[in-house]
Amino acid sequence: MIKAVLCKSFGDPDQLVIDQIAELTPDDNEVIIQVVACSVNYPDTLMIKNMYQFKPEMPFSPGGEVSGIIKSVGSAVKHVKQGDKVFALCGWGGFAEEVKVIAKRVFPMPEGMDFITASSVMYNYGTSFHALKDRGYLKEGETLLVLGAAGGVGLAAVELGKIMGATVIAAASNDEKLLICKEKGADHIINYSEEGFRDKIKTITNGKGVDVIYDPVGDQYTEPALRSIAYNGRYLVVGFAAGKIPEIALNLALLKSCAITGVFWGQFAEKEPGLNMKNLQQLANYFQKGQLKPHIYKTYPLEEAPVALWDMINRKVIGKAVVLVNEEANRSNPPIQKVEKSEVSEVQQKDGKFIFKNLHHLKQSYGLKLGTSDWVTMDQSKINDFARATEDFQWIHVDTERAKSESPFGKTIAHGFNVLAFSPKFLYAMFDIESAKLSLNYGCNKVRFMSPIIVDSKVRMHAILKETEIENGRGKVFIDVTFEAQGQDKPICVAELISMVIE
Ligand SMILES: NC(=O)c1ccc[n+]([C@@H]2O[C@H](COP(=O)([O-])OP(=O)(O)OC[C@H]3O[C@@H](n4cnc5c(N)ncnc54)[C@H](OP(=O)(O)O)[C@@H]3O)[C@@H](O)[C@H]2O)c1
Repeated sequence: MIKAVLCKSFGDPDQLVIDQIAELTPDDNEVIIQVVACSVNYPDTLMIKNMYQFKPEMPFSPGGEVSGIIKSVGSAVKHVKQGDKVFALCGWGGFAEEVKVIAKRVFPMPEGMDFITASSVMYNYGTSFHALKDRGYLKEGETLLVLGAAGGVGLAAVELGKIMGATVIAAASNDEKLLICKEKGADHIINYSEEGFRDKIKTITNGKGVDVIYDPVGDQYTEPALRSIAYNGRYLVVGFAAGKIPEIALNLALLKSCAITGVFWGQFAEKEPGLNMKNLQQLANYFQKGQLKPHIYKTYPLEEAPVALWDMINRKVIGKAVVLVNEEANRSNPPIQKVEKSEVSEVQQKDGKFIFKNLHHLKQSYGLKLGTSDWVTMDQSKINDFARATEDFQWIHVDTERAKSESPFGKTIAHGFNVLAFSPKFLYAMFDIESAKLSLNYGCNKVRFMSPIIVDSKVRMHAILKETEIENGRGKVFIDVTFEAQGQDKPICVAELISMVIE
């Protein structure tokens, strides 16, 4: 049996239940993927309410875009095999430990890409690239206005607009979202929940208006944007995240001499698979060069998939929310050196320490390898000090004579938490945050002690910056750490540490 988040009756995310279902088997043209990560897309929030064009049979798991490892393939499948790391557009079924997908929608993961990134690229970048290139004919030197610019497809449009040489104006509803758009390369930002949206566009474009407008939001945002379009402009109708489909008087298109153009990436992929594949290859190229990188808002365990959906519905998500179904597999496949290096060049180093400017800088540096600490010898005095501090005097830790004859190792061993207690010392040596008034080692999300720490062994810690959550000038910084002992293959401890930072 496998675990799955199931929609058994239509409604909001609170209707979803977690349940066991039978393991899946593939038909000839199908693939079974052991899901590692499943990103959240807007259609997931509609499908569970029966408001989306695709209507899976009940009960079903939402979650349309996954990355993972192939468990089995049907007899006709040739391009991927058991054990391959893949990403796929499954449509639904991704909020589960396994998903069944038609083979043509499954692609090998580009070398060096981590699972979280792989689950977050195809849908957003595929849509936005098709929109800007094939429907908007965006050219170098033109202006591009992106509405909902901090959302999934919006932020991808900001990044791609810059790569395509446009001057990008990002519009979103609050300053935190706009700051991320700026970090992703937007030349101008506009808070469209404030007054004066059209005047600001007029000023930025010297009265000319915008050449291409990317609109995934709809509702009351559409008309003022369309009224701000330039002569010969292209208005891209991408989606209606704000709810209402706007009704626009067609004389506006006449008066502006502009094109109002629909974008439907799914249909394009079906009808023009060759062109779509070319686009995906071009995108893979941008990723390999480090020119594109999805902004990950947060990861959620499978049980919290409904929270992820609520966060999207409540406009909290910036970039991508990702449900991490298999934490262990994700940990074993960190991002490649290449990505780390490109990040290292953005983060200054002083005395061997990374110096982050602020919490947003830290957040942007997701996946950065913070480094490896010096070796520390776990001698008996450290074990004794720890036992005194915690009042945990188990003989296997402190009784050296008895350990000689009775311990399976012939020596005392350190308490697992003993080595974990070194993590602040190690982390202080690895990075600093310039804007921090206070930072506090706050806790551990997950800890596993995997092998013993025998007295007098040398231990050290490897750390990778996982993610940063920011709210009202406070941040929670999540760091994946692995402790190793010299000469031992298996790690002694893996943990996800949390630091609290106040700016
Ligand atoms: N045509 C296609 O081929 C295609 C492909 C993919 C997606 N889409 C569509 O594009 C739209 C955006 O998808 P996404 O995955 O980027 O979603 P998303 O990450 O939730 O982004 C949507 C953005 O819309 C804005 N928004 C304004 N009012 C909202 C409201 N009442 N509820 C939610 N968001 C609101 C939010 O930004 P602010 O808070 O800054 O306003 C939000 O960041 C959806 O309608 C989706 O179906 C279309």
